[in-house]
Amino acid sequence: MNKNKRETPIYVNLYEQIKKMIQEGKYSENEKLPSKRKLAASLKISPLTVDAAYQQLIAEGYVYSIEKSGYYVAKQVEVLENTTKQKYKIEYENQIETIDYKFAFRTNVVDTSLFPNATWAKLSREVLSENHHEMLNITNPKGMEPLRKEIAKYLELYRGMKVHEEQIIIGSGTTSLISILIEIFGRDKHYAIEDPGYSKIYHLYKGNDVKLSLINVDDNGLSLEHLINAQANIVHITPSHQFPTGIVMPIQRRNELLNWAIASTDRYIIEDDYDSEFRFQGKPIPALQGLDNHQKVIYMNTFTKTLAPSFRMSYMVLPLKLLTKYKEISAHHSCTVPNFEQYIMYKFMNGGYFERHINRMKNQYRQKLDIILKMIQKYPNIEIKGHETGLHFLLVIDTGASEQTIIQKAKKQRIEISGLSSYYKIQGHKNSKPTLVIGYSGIKTEEIETYMNALINIIS
Ligand SMILES: Cc1ncc(COP(=O)(O)O)c(C=O)c1O
Repeated sequence: MNKNKRETPIYVNLYEQIKKMIQEGKYSENEKLPSKRKLAASLKISPLTVDAAYQQLIAEGYVYSIEKSGYYVAKQVEVLENTTKQKYKIEYENQIETIDYKFAFRTNVVDTSLFPNATWAKLSREVLSENHHEMLNITNPKGMEPLRKEIAKYLELYRGMKVHEEQIIIGSGTTSLISILIEIFGRDKHYAIEDPGYSKIYHLYKGNDVKLSLINVDDNGLSLEHLINAQANIVHITPSHQFPTGIVMPIQRRNELLNWAIASTDRYIIEDDYDSEFRFQGKPIPALQGLDNHQKVIYMNTFTKTLAPSFRMSYMVLPLKLLTKYKEISAHHSCTVPNFEQYIMYKFMNGGYFERHINRMKNQYRQKLDIILKMIQKYPNIEIKGHETGLHFLLVIDTGASEQTIIQKAKKQRIEISGLSSYYKIQGHKNSKPTLVIGYSGIKTEEIETYMNALINIIS
């Protein structure tokens, strides 16, 4: 036996050795293995050790035993050699983007230096030391009641919404909540989403195999005419800050949409309010849910933008009339966010930290935006759009260069940007002028100028 493996129990070494011999064909099928007593004597180890090795081999299916006879080698089935393994490896490697970007203008990140680490650590310690035993067991599939109460208070204060905590469902990300909604409404319903839009949402509906229509976006948001023509039942929209165009849906279009929903019992609107906390001009735009007196709007929000994308914590508000249906399906659901994280979040909101954190983030993001606006103003052929709310904006470029040329040029300079065209699923819905979707939330305030200079050099 290998003497170097001193740390490993003897029976494990013996088990490994016999297994290897079986795998290499040194023992053939149904061949009798040495008896426990003989093997123990020749190796000068205890028969109990040999027994432990044989028991492990039996448990894994390498060996079988016959009472009063001994141990035998079981039938071996070889796994076929995968001749295409190398091909897959090469294909996979080719798919990996190897560019090491120096300046990334991504929409799906936040400035992690602003994360309230110390407070979060303090609250986490508090939650652990308070020893809430009940939190170790599965709780309400809707999520923890104290957090749902805090969210209801927050929505009333900041979004003007009258919501009972029983209407709130917490889930790990907007996408996980959409799956619940599809279960509530059914796969036989016809869904509609915005085009251009958030790719993850498109893939989620598609992945759920539901009938899906892509509705184009005009200057006031989702086109009502196209929605009516599509004959969909449920529409998913981002009225506070259309993703990615940044259009804020005006009151007229909101009311038209509500009228569309009221006109038929099976029509609903999913209001995805993913980044409305960050409104930099004027008052926050009231949520569409607040205008709804007919229980037609499902409101959704997330902590992805306000805290961090890795939190995977979002929530939705169901109209009262959908709660009965939710109750039926929730019998086989568990909340997808761990209780501990929910309780820390509850303390974060209840202690006033969330409000302070958002105000601090808003100030920082406003500073970044001010720097950007000042720099862009100097270039008459670059127009900024959709920057009043949220953490990304559009740059419409009128230099004669195509969107693709600009993006390729940027790539060569290790600048990561995306064109608005890539957010469209239907070719016919194209934007007219070259337009870039610029996320600035992940860039530190002190680095904004350097990033923007690099970008302007490419596009001006
Ligand atoms: C339109 C839209 N909805 C929702 C989200 C958030 O999704 P999640 O809560 O799954 O992180 C985002 C994030 O960028 C988004 O752009």
